[in-house]
This record gives sequence, C-alpha cells and structure tokens, in this order.
Amino acid sequence: MLIKIARGWEIPESLVTPEDIFLNRRNFIAGAGSIAAVGALPEFAFAAGEADPSADLYPAKRNPKYKIPLELTPEKVNLTYNNFYEFGSHKKISEAAQALPIRPWEVVFDGDVEKPFKLGIDELIRKMTLQERLYRHRCVEAWSMTIPWSGFPMKDLVALAKPLSKAKYVRMETFKNPSVARGQKAAWYPWPYVEGLTIEEATNELAFMVTGAYGKPMAKQFGAPLRLAVPWKYGFKHIKSIVRFTFTDKQPKSFWEQIQAREYGFWANVNPKVSHPRWSQATERVLGTSIRVPTLLFNGYGEYVADMYKGMEDKQSTWM
Ligand code: MTE
Repeated sequence: MLIKIARGWEIPESLVTPEDIFLNRRNFIAGAGSIAAVGALPEFAFAAGEADPSADLYPAKRNPKYKIPLELTPEKVNLTYNNFYEFGSHKKISEAAQALPIRPWEVVFDGDVEKPFKLGIDELIRKMTLQERLYRHRCVEAWSMTIPWSGFPMKDLVALAKPLSKAKYVRMETFKNPSVARGQKAAWYPWPYVEGLTIEEATNELAFMVTGAYGKPMAKQFGAPLRLAVPWKYGFKHIKSIVRFTFTDKQPKSFWEQIQAREYGFWANVNPKVSHPRWSQATERVLGTSIRVPTLLFNGYGEYVADMYKGMEDKQSTWM
C-alpha cells in the first residue's frame, strides 16, 4: 500500500546516536496546569551504577494464575530487541535509552477525576502491592516474547485516580524530552507517544502497570519506570515511560493512529485471521528460538477479555 508519511524505520541512523547518561533534575511534565501535589515524597535522582530506589521491592511474588505456553524469553534477547521510537526507529535502542533520566519522575492524573493530582513514581509504586506475572507479548510485526513482568493491576491505579462516572476512556502519555530522546527531534511524528484504553479495558484483571521485569526494576529500554502491559492487544498499545493518565469521555487518538489510522486502530486486539496491511498475523516468530507458532485469538487471553468485545467481532477495526 502507498504510505505517504515517513515511517519509523526510515529515520536516519544519525538521529539515534547513543548519548552518555546524565541526570536531569528538571520536571519535564508539560502543562500540569492546576494539578495539586498530593503528599508527594521528595524524589531523588540516582546515577548510573547506583541502586534504583525501588530495588528492595524485587523480586515480587509471582501470581501463579497467569501461565505461558512457552519458555520465558531470555532476558538478554529482550534487552536488545525493542521498539522505543523516542530513541530510534530500529530494534537496537538499548544503549540510547540509557540517557533517559527516570528520577525524579512524576505521574499526573487529570481530566475527569474527582481531583487532579500528581505523584512521584516511588510514592505511586509503594502505594501498590507488587506482583510478578508471566505474560505473552505479541507485536503487530509478527514476533513475540514471553516476559516476567512485575507491577500492579491497572484497576488499582484507576481506583487511586477516582475517575468521574462520565469518564469512558483513559488516555496515557509518554514523556517528551527531545534533549535526551533524540527520536523526538523527528518532527514528522506526533510526539509525545499516546495510547488509550476504555475504562472497562483498563479495569480488566489482565491490564497491568509494569514497573519491573526479570525480578528487578524495569530496564529503561522496556519503558522504565512505568509502562503498560495489555497482553491481548498488539505491542504498540503497551505504552512506555508514562507520565500522564487523563480520564476522558472522548476516545483518545493514539500515536500510531494519528500517523496511519488504516494500519493502527484504537482496539488493536490480536486476531490471526485479520491481517495488518503489511504483515499477516497468522503466525509469529518466537524471539530467542528458531520456531514460528500459530497466533491465537486475543493472543490466547480470550477467556479474560472476549466478553468486552461481544457484538463487535465483525468489525475489522476491533482487530487492527
Ligand atoms: N511506547 C513508547 N513510548 N514509544 C514506542 O516507540 N513502541 C511500542 C510499545 N510502546 C513504543 C512504546 C511498540 S510498537 C511495541 S511492539 C512495544 O512497545 C515494544 O515493547 P518492547 O520493546 O518491550 O518489546
């Protein structure tokens, strides 16, 4: 198909030169407006080599309910094969991503909530009980992994935010800081990265806020210090390094939907029978192995999520 806009993988390599790690004490959340700081503990920066301030919370106790059919993807495979366009348009962004300062890190809760507020990431994490879940992760590029995420159910975060009854969606936003994330200098992208879920999806038991992986605080290339895992949806819904949750009655327009709505829709539920315009979704390459396996409807999580989409099954847009 004809694609007029420059795509991620067409960004020149020169835009993603790795940088040295440095600390940025500036609060780079723009437009926090009238947000009240609610009892925020002081956040402190930590340098390369220093322990992450949340390190004592890991490894979190595994929740045995969520099982995976295949072996876990080796950590070193996952650490060096990532999509994080803020740091480059190819899979080898791990070195560049180390430039991201992840303390201080404030998370804003606003929109249709009882009272907007912001919280430092460590205060947020310590309000929650962390657990480990083994989840499948399926990218629309037809590769997959299986990952031991640590974090907490997104429904606990929604409860903390206290949305009003008129809120139907939660819109999530990644940081914007082109001085460290060189990919954000590419003006043809609609930065910051945005994703959205319905409130029903966000409060589904599978929707998980990730803070750690492989038994420790999450590596920067995975989207530290806070990312989403919604394993029945394609990987692009799994927004990384989140700084804002906005509750709204309007369906958010995601980053990829703004770029190419015909290829990346709001729902993005995994379905092997509905092809992406450029990739069949029938099978997937299992990273870290030499095998390809058939892709499962809802990535194998139908028992948890299919009910949310009753009556929408015939709509192509539910799947892509
Ligand atoms: N979040 C942000 N902020 N920026 C991104 O480029 N890429 C998405 C998603 N979240 C992306 C993002 C895509 S396309 C995928 S497949 C997954 O992150 C990749 O997650 P992984 O690198 O942990 O496998």
